[in-house]
Amino acid sequence: MNILILGGGGREHALAWAVMQNPKCDKLIVAPGNAGIAEIADCATLDIENGAAVVAFCEENAIEFVIIGPEAPLAAGVADRLRDAGLLVFGPDAAAARLEASKAFTKEICDATGAPTAAYARFTDAAAARDYINTQGAPIVVKADGLAAGKGVIVAETVDQALEAIDDMFGGEFGEAGAEVVIEEFMQGEEASFFVLVDGEDVLPIGTAQDHKRVGEGDTGPNTGGMGAYSPAPILTDAVAQEALDRIIRPTVAELARRGTPYRGVLYAGLMIQNGKPRLVEYNVRFGDPEAQVLMLRMGAQALDLMQAAAAGQLAECRVNWADDHAMTVVMAADGYPGAYEKGSVINGLEDLPETSNEICFHARTSRRDGRFVASGGRVLNVTARGESLSQARERVYDMIDRIDWPEGFCRRDIGWRAL
Ligand code: AMP
Ligand code: GLY
Repeated sequence: MNILILGGGGREHALAWAVMQNPKCDKLIVAPGNAGIAEIADCATLDIENGAAVVAFCEENAIEFVIIGPEAPLAAGVADRLRDAGLLVFGPDAAAARLEASKAFTKEICDATGAPTAAYARFTDAAAARDYINTQGAPIVVKADGLAAGKGVIVAETVDQALEAIDDMFGGEFGEAGAEVVIEEFMQGEEASFFVLVDGEDVLPIGTAQDHKRVGEGDTGPNTGGMGAYSPAPILTDAVAQEALDRIIRPTVAELARRGTPYRGVLYAGLMIQNGKPRLVEYNVRFGDPEAQVLMLRMGAQALDLMQAAAAGQLAECRVNWADDHAMTVVMAADGYPGAYEKGSVINGLEDLPETSNEICFHARTSRRDGRFVASGGRVLNVTARGESLSQARERVYDMIDRIDWPEGFCRRDIGWRAL
């Protein structure tokens, strides 16, 4: 089978790695890919948010299956165009991708299904939003409705912070994404992520994870795209998972099918868990980054069979072959991230790292210069390992990190502390 993966971060490196483990894969192209992905697959330049361009590329390259990594092409309707052209696609159509592309839409689905989530109100007018915040008080959460590259959520500890967020959003800081604002009750509890595959109708759980969003050790400092993750998440017990499936995820999938916009792909539910009860924080319509790195290492080659079954509407016949294992990924970032950082520093030692079914260094933002790997973004490497226990996985990860020679990079040394 000839396969195309859209995207070029650590998530897509992990997806590409898992796909390449499966003998079913004859040819793999990743667009745009990165220097690490180029070690295992062909990389191509392609406008991945342009459905017509992706369809033409698939025809030229005899592609049979397309896996869409990031949310932007999904929200732009690339999966719709590919399905119209008769291709097998992993990822939802634009209408179902609204679960991530519009926070107000997700709230509407929760209202329709009675799924437990934070109380909320939605506004297109700043004065009404301010009145609501003044009545509700703080803490309170202010969200731009649309896609804002992970930056559109303000957890305000004071009323003033919330009012400032309203000014920023209606002042255009997030462009169109902030034209509507959702204001939510602040939920207490511990967060964890639940990943399921969906084929329009059937739902198959494929794992749980927790990530660390703050840049500093002890979960301090500014928010980032994620500094590390581990799977499974101990807080997401079988009982919590069952309740999330019964009260949140299956009703969502059924409601979308009922509306004639069935969901196909991976559905990533961010849950807030308190006293053993899950509530929905948000949906994402793609794998998490860096959560995909730990999920793919745990699943290996079967990930391709499962994604293909989800795309083809055949999940009912599928089972996940679980190993009783644990995985961890630690992000190495360029000094200064998530603030200003330099690009182009040389990373040595990557060629000598182990690359086994237990240990692998996925690349997020690297390129090649004069034959050497250089950093080309903020979050650069995802050093990933699995083991019989989380502490064994952790030991393997930090052993690898100690062998990477990159003076201009840093990582958190305490990933997994909550679970260890
Ligand atoms: P989101 O982009 O919706 O995942 O929001 C980013 C982060 O903000 C989440 O991972 C939570 O840590 C936090 N958050 C979002 N909504 C709420 C809420 N209603 N209560 C508490 N924390 C929240
Ligand atoms: N790691 C969080 C995300 O991918 O949204």
